[in-house]
Amino acid sequence: MSFNNLDTLYRQVIMDHYKNPRNRGKLEGDHITVELNNPTCGDRIDLQLKVNDGIVEDAKFEGEGCSISMSSASMMTQVIIGKNVEDAVKISKMFSDMMLGEEVDTADYKLEDLGDIQALQGVSKFPARIKCATLAWKAMEQGVEKEDE
Ligand code: FES
Repeated sequence: MSFNNLDTLYRQVIMDHYKNPRNRGKLEGDHITVELNNPTCGDRIDLQLKVNDGIVEDAKFEGEGCSISMSSASMMTQVIIGKNVEDAVKISKMFSDMMLGEEVDTADYKLEDLGDIQALQGVSKFPARIKCATLAWKAMEQGVEKEDE
């Protein structure tokens, strides 16, 4: 696939998650809540996680933000549900590395194993948008830390 076609595909994936977010809403019952703002624009995410025996059993989010921040939240919830906390954090680190334009494959995961997240690769070329893309992931890392306390 040519670079331009890939770019168009990625843009479509991002807009699909923005317009039809996965796991948007509120969790019922016991759960962890983390609310974070993007300090540069004031947009926010309210992330809820249900973690049991070290497994992320469910995740939902609410909030307002740009297409990058909201699609990233949607993709993040999709990929972490069912994973153990250690793997969820590992994937979050991979995502941060991807935003810094670094090599992201690890012994456990390759970028192509992570589905739609790949679509956000291009954000690394726009430093001002990196905070948009990483907002939901930071909230997730803080949430699973709360679970440890
Ligand atoms: Fe506010 Fe992206 S511009 S989160």
